[in-house]
Amino acid sequence: MKKVILITGASAGIGKHTAIQLAQQGHTIYGLARSIELMDELKAFGINPIQLDVTSPQNIKQVIKEILTKESRIDVLINNAGYGFYESMEECSIEKAKELFDVNVFGLMQITQEVLPTMRNANAGTIINLSSVVGKVPFLFMGWYSASKFAVEGLSDALRLELKAFNIKVVVVEPGRVTSKFGDTALSLSNMDSASPYYKKMIDFQKLIEDNPLPSSSPDSISNTIIKIINSSNPKTRYCPNFDGKIAIFFKKWFGDKFIDFVIGSRL
Ligand SMILES: NC(=O)c1ccc[n+]([C@@H]2O[C@H](COP(=O)([O-])OP(=O)(O)OC[C@H]3O[C@@H](n4cnc5c(N)ncnc54)[C@H](OP(=O)(O)O)[C@@H]3O)[C@@H](O)[C@H]2O)c1
Repeated sequence: MKKVILITGASAGIGKHTAIQLAQQGHTIYGLARSIELMDELKAFGINPIQLDVTSPQNIKQVIKEILTKESRIDVLINNAGYGFYESMEECSIEKAKELFDVNVFGLMQITQEVLPTMRNANAGTIINLSSVVGKVPFLFMGWYSASKFAVEGLSDALRLELKAFNIKVVVVEPGRVTSKFGDTALSLSNMDSASPYYKKMIDFQKLIEDNPLPSSSPDSISNTIIKIINSSNPKTRYCPNFDGKIAIFFKKWFGDKFIDFVIGSRL
């Protein structure tokens, strides 16, 4: 069935790729992001780009109202907008951490809250929240980003339980390393001060990421998973589509924190 689908973070990476794949399947897609100019090419696929900053409650209200005036329903919300950076927990300012949470956590919930009344009235809907493998297995210098994705994991579980009575599905997707703008954005926002007591470890950590023998996965791995979720009448609660993510989660679950500490520690 043709669905009305909203996807945040549609101006780049996973979001842009998924928006195009879904549009090619015949769905009505609204692509949302701040960089409206980067979504121009989406129009050729029949996608409706709308400028949206997920940190602006007013902007969210006005955009959802605009979409509902045209469509009168929203079947699927894909909360994909998000970013990260590399910094030590000690040195990252609380202001910078709050800004991250404003996008990855509160922005995600603000748009979800705005979409839920129409889904509840329809007694149907699917919400797909983009977490990360680090929402299960935190990495050093990605502590605040990990914390924001742990929050996404937790709020998604609570939402799923609360929304079961309204027949609304909530599903988490946990990508591993996926080719996108994410890494460049993270580097540009990272504070690499050579006077920092963490500097050497951060450089070693960066090298470790660059020398990772596992190549990053294509955004196809995530868009295919999202398509599977949308087409499923009974999706799983969470999906971890990439091999690197699967390995990390497996070892954390069966061998524990100390084992993960040992593996990472022995390489830094
Ligand atoms: N790539 C990976 O390796 C990886 C791994 C695990 C999880 N993830 C998660 O996957 C999701 C997509 O990331 P990606 O890899 O596709 O990154 P990306 O290429 O950097 O794209 C991020 C998207 O988020 C949007 N965004 C950021 N801040 C926003 C805001 N305030 N309001 C609205 N949109 C905003 C950006 O659009 P504008 O700047 O135009 O607003 C952009 O479209 C994120 O939640 C990320 O945490 C990615």
